[in-house]
Amino acid sequence: MYENDIEYTLISEEKIRSVVAELCERINRDFFGKETILLIILKGSLIFASDLMRGLDIPVTIDFMQASSYGTGSESSGEISIKKDMDNDPTDKHIIIVEDIIDSGRTLSLLRANLEDRGAASVSICALLSKPARREVEVRTEYIGMEIPDEFVVGYGLDFAERYRNLPYIGVLKPIVYSD
Ligand code: IMP
Ligand code: MG
Repeated sequence: MYENDIEYTLISEEKIRSVVAELCERINRDFFGKETILLIILKGSLIFASDLMRGLDIPVTIDFMQASSYGTGSESSGEISIKKDMDNDPTDKHIIIVEDIIDSGRTLSLLRANLEDRGAASVSICALLSKPARREVEVRTEYIGMEIPDEFVVGYGLDFAERYRNLPYIGVLKPIVYSD
């Protein structure tokens, strides 16, 4: 149904599986035996998080947050707008933020600072994808699945105008879809 809108497949289902498995292996090693909260950033991380958590062999609970950044140009400061906050109090908790993709880095750098200010014991970032060419703000990232070129991608949770999240692979959108 969406196939006609996709220019090409950037990351196949099989490749996604192996990338997620590698991330799980690293997290299992680093967090062995540690009570951890997976903080799933809505909405794009939903599918990634559901695969990631099933590969984790550590005592995890899950929580959700919906946030975005606002601010202008290349200012490194900015403010975070929290549309839905996590249910847990982050104080003294080990938190792994699960994000679909890091683009400018604004949202995640503000979110990390926000959780550290609220007294989290540790904050780590696990993102499936990263577009290093787009970075405007430095952000420390512990776990990155794959670096990708500066292309707009959809599928496996990632959307354009809320669509395409249900594609099982990650594809590059045809330019015609934007210009409609
Ligand atoms: P930033 O790193 O604060 O600029 O924002 C990252 C957010 O932008 C992600 O969580 C996505 O919602 C969205 N985003 C960035 N690049 C893409 C893309 O290629 N496809 C779909 N969403 C994207
Ligand atoms: Mg989005």
